[in-house]
Amino acid sequence: MTPKKVLIAGATGLVGHACMKHFASHSDCEVIALSRRRPDETFRARWLPLDLTDAAACARLAPEFAGVSHLVYAALYERPGLVAGWQDEEQIRTMLVDALSGAGHKVESATDGLTGLARFQGGRFDVVLTDLSLPECSGLDVARSVKRMHPETPVVLITGWGHLLNPERLRESGIDLMLVKPFRLERLLSVLGDALRLRPSA
Ligand SMILES: NC(=O)c1ccc[n+]([C@@H]2O[C@H](COP(=O)([O-])OP(=O)(O)OC[C@H]3O[C@@H](n4cnc5c(N)ncnc54)[C@H](OP(=O)(O)O)[C@@H]3O)[C@@H](O)[C@H]2O)c1
Repeated sequence: MTPKKVLIAGATGLVGHACMKHFASHSDCEVIALSRRRPDETFRARWLPLDLTDAAACARLAPEFAGVSHLVYAALYERPGLVAGWQDEEQIRTMLVDALSGAGHKVESATDGLTGLARFQGGRFDVVLTDLSLPECSGLDVARSVKRMHPETPVVLITGWGHLLNPERLRESGIDLMLVKPFRLERLLSVLGDALRLRPSA
């Protein structure tokens, strides 16, 4: 059997640890494992300390990787503050776009209300989803402007403060439906379906 050279990135992680253990049982495998911290166990693997975000350090270690035939990439880059993920606007926007695109919808996103409104003005949209807290103008301002331009377009407000908002004020602002954070994909798709049914042509 041809000897294999396996590189495992993420030696201290759950997956990396399991892979090091697994490949230790294959006598035809030479195993190299890397991570920033030293793993408690390396089994038969040769551990190399490496920060994958450090380009110079990666270049220095590159000769060690010559002849690698298999790569297990189990290194996980975690953004600082990811724990508060559902509150992070960028995370939410990316997640929404991915989830809705994955469900077959054509989606455009914007980082703030004014950009979103400019995009809305220049295109044709079935539904608007807006967060309540936005830079520049609030989700309620977005809803008002959307309704001024196209009163028939349903607007969904995404907020973590659902129970504190005055329903009368929401209606006056042009909010048709609310999506309360944190929410699951099924809830997102269900609210979107309800919003689509609100269109006059639906
Ligand atoms: N766990 C599961 O059940 C599971 C299931 C399916 C898919 N996955 C996927 O598999 C991947 C790994 O998951 P995991 O659970 O093993 O994650 P984990 O336990 O958090 O391990 C992450 C690994 O990445 C390493 N790492 C992070 N930043 C690094 C850097 N800059 N340079 C070098 N190494 C770095 C960490 O090592 P140091 O911090 O020591 O550097 C650690 O060894 C993820 O993409 C995950 O989504 C996991």
